[in-house]
Formats: sequence, structure tokens, C-alpha cells
Amino acid sequence: MAKAIKKIAVTGGAGNIANSLLFRIASGEMLGPDQPIALHILEIPRAVGALEGVCMELEDCAFPLLKEVKVGGDPMEIFGDVDYAMLVGAMPRGLGMERQDLLEANGKIFVPQGKALNAVASRDCKVLVVGNPCNTNCLIAMHNAPDLPRENFMSMTHLDHNRALAQLAAKAKVPVGDVTRVAVWGNHSLSQVPDWRHALIHGKPIKETINDKDWLENSFVPRVQKRGAEVIAARGKSSAASAANAAIDAIVNITTPTPEGDWFSCGVCSDSNPYGFEENLIFSMPCRSPGDGSYEVMGDLPISENLRNKILKTQEELIAERDLVADMLL
Ligand code: NAD
Ligand code: LMR
Repeated sequence: MAKAIKKIAVTGGAGNIANSLLFRIASGEMLGPDQPIALHILEIPRAVGALEGVCMELEDCAFPLLKEVKVGGDPMEIFGDVDYAMLVGAMPRGLGMERQDLLEANGKIFVPQGKALNAVASRDCKVLVVGNPCNTNCLIAMHNAPDLPRENFMSMTHLDHNRALAQLAAKAKVPVGDVTRVAVWGNHSLSQVPDWRHALIHGKPIKETINDKDWLENSFVPRVQKRGAEVIAARGKSSAASAANAAIDAIVNITTPTPEGDWFSCGVCSDSNPYGFEENLIFSMPCRSPGDGSYEVMGDLPISENLRNKILKTQEELIAERDLVADMLL
């Protein structure tokens, strides 16, 4: 019997990321080759013309799984009954800016969107916030949707996770699939903590292949932390295809079982976290999923004092961002 249609909201449909993301979702890469879908695309009035072009291209792809495309500017209409909400629509940063500089312009987008999800989305809607600064924007959306489970709100740090995998694989001269157990802790910002300490290469401790602590601490970590800015400097625009790819991965991470012995990084609600970090933040941590849409934070990783101190720095930044948006948190 054919599966029931899943409804997926994507905001910022005329933007750079959406120009990859929508097409990859519609091709079946996110929910699988036998899952019919409907796309509900939200944009602001200024971008409606461009969005019409995107819709023409979606139509011209003749994707067999794409059963319906709905577009509009009202989140109360677009988020109706959606099973997934991918909140991408927000201003990107330019050269010389930090992601936190976007908070004033972007934070307020997530108040009405959170309220609309609360009012009309499926009660089990999974929400992935991509628009920056994604952790705190996700916190705003979560607070404005108090009737939805807090664990359904996630911010996208899987791009940082993928960047970390790619850098380690290149250094070790192995295929990227041979690197496991990388973690990204904290904020999707310069203060994030890319954690190589638990990583395995070919299933063996990293130091058996990359026995170079200086490179790990002083080249690898800053490279991952600053990769977004490196892409902006090269492209003149922020990452788009790799961001769309990570957004797909972030949903695949919770809809397929996590491979044995591995985990993924995701910004999740820090309530009752196993490491004693501040609660009521959206905090990137290593997680595992049985593949049914749920996940759990890895609870048993040894955290050295040195690593904890770094994580506490990124926590401080998340708390400062939360303070800045206190008036948007219900
Ligand atoms: P873009 O400017 O190309 O597109 C953004 C789109 O969002 C535009 O079409 C704009 O009209 C739309 N938009 C703005 N406000 C909206 C609203 N209230 N409702 C619906 N749509 C709205 O930007 P982009 O390159 O696609 O990036 C989008 C966001 O994603 C940025 O904030 C960027 O910094 C962030 N980003 C995050 C990650 C991550 O790893 N978390 C990676 C890359 C980019
Ligand atoms: C990224 O990490 O590529 C995005 O967050 C975009 C940015 O501003 O760096």
C-alpha cells in the first residue's frame, strides 16, 4: 500500500540553500524513495517572483514523489499539518560579520513562525532551524511553540560535523566513511567545540593515524570553527549546497537508525542533559537515533577538564545570546 503523504515546510524557498534543498527533498533523498511528499514553501512578498521560478523548475523536474507544492507568505497557512519544518529563511552574514550579528535581524522571524507551528503543525512536527544564529533562533521558535515537544526542535550543526569528518579524512588520507565518532559541542559559531578526542579512524583511536596533537588543536579545530567564513570569503556568499546537504543529513539522522558505534551532532534542547550543562538552551551534542524520529544524547562520553572548559565557553556564549532575546522567549 502506498505510504501517506508527508508534508514538509521549507522557509526561504527562493534563497540559496533552498535552491538545493527543495530539489533534493523532492527527489526522495531525505525521506526515502517510496515516500510521497508535499512541499509547503514560505517566502516573503519581495521574493515571490523568484519563488515562482523555483516552482516552475520543481515542476520541470517531474519528480514522481512530489505530489503537491503549496507556496505562500503566511506561516499559519503554510505550516498547516506539516510533519517537518525546515526553517531556512533568514538573512545570511557577509564578510567580517559573526553569526551572532544576525540575531537582531533574524531572531524576530522565529517568534511568529514558532507560534504558527504551535497552532497548526502536526503535533509531532520535527523542526530543524538552519537560519542563523541557528541555536538561538531555534530556542526562540521552541519557546513560542510550547505545545510541541521541546525535543522536536533542532538546530543544524551537522554541517560542522561533516566539515570535521572531511578535514580528518583528508589529513589521515582515508575515505570520509572511515572516520566516526566526531562530535561538535555547543553553538554553531566560532566558539563551537569540534571534538576529535573520541574520533575513530578505521575503528581505531585517532592517535594511531593522526598522532599530531598540535595539528588537531591548532589547525583542525580552528579550520572547522571558521569554515563558514572561509567559504564566504571564497564564494562571496555563504555555504549553500553543503548547508542543504547537512539539512538533509540532519533529518536522515533521526529517520534512520544510527550505525552501530557512531553518533551524529545536532543542536538539541539541553534540558536534563547528561553532562550537567545549562538547561533551556539549544546546545549541540552527540546523539543517536533508533530511526523513528526520536534521538537520545550520548550519555557516557568521558569529558576531560580541558574539553569541559572549552564547552563551558561556548555555553557562556549561548547564555549571552539567550539573554539578548529574553523578550522573545515566552
Ligand atoms: P538567502 O539570502 O540566499 O535566502 C534566504 C531567503 O529567506 C530569502 O529568499 C529571503 O527572502 C527568505 N526570508 C527572509 N525572511 C523570511 C521569512 N520571515 N520567512 C520566509 N522566508 C524568509 O540565504 P541562504 O544562503 O539561503 O541562508 C539562509 C540562512 O541559513 C542564513 O541565515 C544563513 O546564515 C543560514 N545558514 C546556516 C547554516 C548552518 O549550518 N546552520 C549554513 C548555511 C547558512
Ligand atoms: C556556515 O557555517 O557555512 C553557515 O553558518 C553560514 C555562515 O555564516 O558561516
